[in-house]
Amino acid sequence: MPGSESSVDQLEVLINEERLQARIQELGKQIREDFGDNPITCIGVLKGSFLFMADLVRAIGGPVRCEFLGVSSYQGGTRSTGVVRITHDLKQPVEGQHCVLVEDIVDTGLTMDYLLRMLQVRNPASLKVATLLDKPDNREVEVQTDYIGFTIPDEFVVGYGLDLNELYRNLPHIAVYTP
Ligand code: IMP
Repeated sequence: MPGSESSVDQLEVLINEERLQARIQELGKQIREDFGDNPITCIGVLKGSFLFMADLVRAIGGPVRCEFLGVSSYQGGTRSTGVVRITHDLKQPVEGQHCVLVEDIVDTGLTMDYLLRMLQVRNPASLKVATLLDKPDNREVEVQTDYIGFTIPDEFVVGYGLDLNELYRNLPHIAVYTP
């Protein structure tokens, strides 16, 4: 049954924990360099980015605020519907703040496009995008991606925050799921 514990043998490691963590350190360092000593508001997109957000904010170091946006873009399954539902909004205004939107993966780009429009009207001082994974082959709208962890082929991946029917988020690596 897809997404059940019995399908563990359908997973193949794509990015191991060591590579993942090394790249996140690099991204954090680059982001801190780009922003100098300024406070950065990192906005994690739930649920998929929760592990990436936790590691990235520590890699950035210095003054960082953590905010979260809850988004539900799939109603289960492996295909984007393009329908974005906000399930949790920011707790603080971000007006005048340097913001980095922290995503797990950009696939069609529909979710990111929607979120960027939604955040721009809240007048941040600047708005950048950090995504752990980029799947450019499947893009339906062009979106801004300032910091990319890894560019990957058009395959369905799970682990390190990414799920299939809510499972596999706790894997320490990224794996390709083959149905
Ligand atoms: P997009 O709107 O198609 O760019 O998809 C963005 C969201 O779809 C991501 O934040 C993920 O939650 C989900 N998603 C896209 N591709 C994958 C994947 O390969 N595995 C798990 N989730 C995915």
